[in-house]
Amino acid sequence: MNIAIIGTGYVGLVTGTCFAEVGHNVVCVDCDEDKVKLLQGGGIPIYEPGLEEMVKKNVADGRLSFTASTSEGVEKSDVIFIAVPTPPLEDGSVDLSFIERVARDIANAMTSYKIVVDKSTVPVKTGEKVAETIKRYCKANCEFDVISNPEFLREGFAVEDLMKPDRIVVGSASDRPNESMRAIYEPFNAPIIFTDINSAELIKHAANSFLAMKISYINAVAAICEASGANVEEVANGIGMDDRIGRRFLNASLGFGGSCFPKDLSAFIRISDELGYDFGLLKEVQKINAGQMDRFLKKITDTLWILKDKTIGVLGLAFKQNTDDVRMSPAIDICQRLLKEGASLRVFDPKAMEKAKGFLPAEGVTYVDEMDEVAEGCDALVVATEWPLFKELDLAKAKEGMTSPILFDGRNMFDPSEMEQLGFTYKSIGR
Ligand SMILES: NC(=O)c1ccc[n+]([C@@H]2O[C@H](COP(=O)([O-])OP(=O)(O)OC[C@H]3O[C@@H](n4cnc5c(N)ncnc54)[C@H](O)[C@@H]3O)[C@@H](O)[C@H]2O)c1
Repeated sequence: MNIAIIGTGYVGLVTGTCFAEVGHNVVCVDCDEDKVKLLQGGGIPIYEPGLEEMVKKNVADGRLSFTASTSEGVEKSDVIFIAVPTPPLEDGSVDLSFIERVARDIANAMTSYKIVVDKSTVPVKTGEKVAETIKRYCKANCEFDVISNPEFLREGFAVEDLMKPDRIVVGSASDRPNESMRAIYEPFNAPIIFTDINSAELIKHAANSFLAMKISYINAVAAICEASGANVEEVANGIGMDDRIGRRFLNASLGFGGSCFPKDLSAFIRISDELGYDFGLLKEVQKINAGQMDRFLKKITDTLWILKDKTIGVLGLAFKQNTDDVRMSPAIDICQRLLKEGASLRVFDPKAMEKAKGFLPAEGVTYVDEMDEVAEGCDALVVATEWPLFKELDLAKAKEGMTSPILFDGRNMFDPSEMEQLGFTYKSIGR
C-alpha cells in the first residue's frame, strides 16, 4: 500500500517505519522543517529502542521517505494517517486545531479517492467533524472515507508494540475502506476489530482512563499500606494473580504522567460532561494522582525538614523508562517542586537530559553525565523514573559521597531491607 503519515512524532515516525518494515511504501510528513531535514539527513529526533536501525534500513531500501509537504504526501498515497498532537487546553478539553488544520490541508491536496485515518487520540465524535471539514474544503469534490484507528503503543516499547499489537481497532462509517485497512495491517498478525467511528474513538479514551484508574487504585492502596504497615508489593502480587485483575499497572509510584494519560483522562472527563454524564470516578483518579506527588514530597520534607540550600540528587527525568520524553513527566514535576523549595539538584537520566533542559530552569540544576557521580555532595537521592539501570547504582559509592545516606524511591526500585542493611534511610511507596 502507499501510505502517508501526517505528523512525524513519537506515533507518526514509529508507525510509518513499522509500516515500511512490513513492505508498504511510506512517506512521513511533518510541518517542522528542521525535523524533516534531520530525518532526511539520517538523524532521528526521538529515542525509541530499535527505531534508528529500522528507519535507516527502510530508507535505504527505498520504502520510507520524509517531506515537509502535505500535498506531496497526499499525492503519493492511497491512505493518509493523521498523527498530529492533540494537546490539552486549560479547561481539560482537547485542542483539536492541529487535526482541523491537517483535515483542511488534506482536503486541499486531494484529487482522487483517499482513505483518511485518524491515529491521533481524539474525543468521541471528532471523526464526524473531520469528515465535514474535508467535504467542505475539498475543491476537487473527491470521494473519501474517514477512519478512526487509535494507537495503543507505549513509548519506550513503541517498535515492539507496533510490530506485535494485541489488537487493531478500525472504526469506519462504511465497508468501503475496510479491505485497504485489512491489507495494511495483515502483516502484523493481530486481531482487527472493525467497528463504528464513535466506538473506536471511545475505545482509546476508555482504555487509557482504565489504565490510569488501575495506577491510582494501587497508589490509594499504597497509602493504606503505609498507614497499616502492610506492603503494597505483596498486595499487588496477591491481587494481580487473579487473572480478572492482572498484575500489570499495579506498581505503586509517585503517580502517572507523560503526554497521554493525564490529557486523555481529562479529555474523557470533559467530553463525558459535554455529553451529560458526570464521570466522578475519573475525577477521583486525577485527585489520587495529584495527591500521590504531594505525599511523596511530604516524605522528603518530613525527613529533610528545610530544603533551602540542600542538594538533592535526582535519578530519572523521563516520564518513564526507555524514553527521552519528558512531557508532563512526574520526574520533572518533582524537580520543579524541589527547586521551588530552594534545593539545588544534581540530575541524571540515560536518555532524557537534553529534552529536560527545555523544561527545567538553568539555575540550580547540574546535569551529571555519570549515574554513579550524581550522589556526590547530596543530602538525599530521589529515584523518579523506573529505568532498570538505576538498580545498578553503586550504593556504597553513593553513600560515601553523600552528607547523609537518604534515598527517596518514587518507583520502588530497591529492596527496603537491603537498603537498611547498607545503612540508608530509605523511603519508598506503600512499604
Ligand atoms: N506518544 C504516545 O505514546 C502516544 C500513544 C498513543 C497515541 N498518541 C496520540 O498520538 C498523537 C500524536 O502524539 P505524539 O506523541 O506522536 O506527538 P508528537 O508531538 O511527538 O508528534 C506530532 C508531530 O506532528 C507534527 N505536526 C503538527 N502539526 C502538523 C501539521 N499541521 N502538519 C504536519 N505535521 C504536523 C509536529 O511537528 C510533531 O512532529 C496524539 O494525539 C497523542 O495523544 C500518542
